[in-house]
Amino acid sequence: MNCITGENIADLYHRSAAVVDLACISHNLQVVREKAPGRKIIAMVKANAYGHGLVRVAEHLASEGVDYLGTAFVEEALELRRAGITIPIITSGPFSRFQIGLFIENNIDLTIASVDALQYIREAAEFYKKRVNIHLKVDTGMMRIGIRYTNARKLFAAALEGEKYLNLVSIFSHFANSDNQDLGFAQLQLERFLEATRFFAHEHRPSPLLQIANSAAILRMEESQLDMIRPGIMLYGYHPSPATESQASLQPALSLRAKIMYFKVVLAGNSVGYGRTWTAPQNCRVVTIPVGYGDGYPRALSNKGQVLLRGQRYPVRGSVCMDQTMIGIGAGEAYIGEEVQLIGRQGGEVITADDLAAQLGTISYEVLTNISARVPRIYVNEHRGRNNLSA
Ligand SMILES: Cc1ncc(COP(=O)(O)O)c(C=O)c1O
Repeated sequence: MNCITGENIADLYHRSAAVVDLACISHNLQVVREKAPGRKIIAMVKANAYGHGLVRVAEHLASEGVDYLGTAFVEEALELRRAGITIPIITSGPFSRFQIGLFIENNIDLTIASVDALQYIREAAEFYKKRVNIHLKVDTGMMRIGIRYTNARKLFAAALEGEKYLNLVSIFSHFANSDNQDLGFAQLQLERFLEATRFFAHEHRPSPLLQIANSAAILRMEESQLDMIRPGIMLYGYHPSPATESQASLQPALSLRAKIMYFKVVLAGNSVGYGRTWTAPQNCRVVTIPVGYGDGYPRALSNKGQVLLRGQRYPVRGSVCMDQTMIGIGAGEAYIGEEVQLIGRQGGEVITADDLAAQLGTISYEVLTNISARVPRIYVNEHRGRNNLSA
């Protein structure tokens, strides 16, 4: 079977699940390819593939032919190597010098942001008698990690000097606000990046690959796509901000589901849950679902969140507990074992990670990455490839 429908997904779990539709990820990757034809793709799978499950999502993206996987930390990259993933992996975040052996032994590309780090990586590479793949990080305005664009030529020159042991694959930078309506600062960052990397032309040396574009820039700044792109959130079906929404139609890949575990009638005047923050104004029905803030469903949604049941929205009543949440269904019907969606689609109703983020004052990235390890990930539509997507 290559298509699992809404009715039988509930048979695949007992309590709660984050159901990841891999065909949606394929669709979103196809959008990336249409927006940036011919560019090499680093698919960002850091933070548990934005909550979607690191290994399975990485395997899927590798099978779809992405060039690189992107993690923040070496531990994430190691998990991918241990799972048997062999395609190139770049870690874009910081590391300790005591971890360099892990990179070299496991063939994980290093991001270098200072001349000091470059020197000790070169020494380590010499020790291992191995030429290691490196990427240089230039700070053009994010002020996170990276050598300042005005000093970058020192780092470039040192990398070229060490080329016996250092294979300079790419140079990259990161946008601070390419998701902003006003692209002025992003344009300035791009100019700074291009100016700094002209070094190679001046030195009559072949340029390494250049990369700076995240999802927002892929969608709105074609001129920033350069040689390689680093899509993250758009692969999972979300726009980085409302500013990019008109640029592409993405498909959210994750739905967060739970089964009703208990049903009760709360008589008028009785309160529900910790802190007694909600009192029934009249007799009503309340169901309990086995998802709480320990699963990544935020406590800040107490008395605010909504879920979908039988294609209708129903409110969270009382405080979200660590493991359970109560839902008021008024005079509605529900059975133990029926499926509720906390993020997802039922009938004509949809609740997205963006909806939750708007209620919480945050962004979809945080809502998705917060879905905790306790929630089993279930993967559907693995083999429903790009060719079937329009069906
Ligand atoms: C270095 C780097 N590149 C690319 C991305 C992907 O960004 P987005 O998810 O907005 O596409 C991130 C995410 O924060 C990042 O830190």
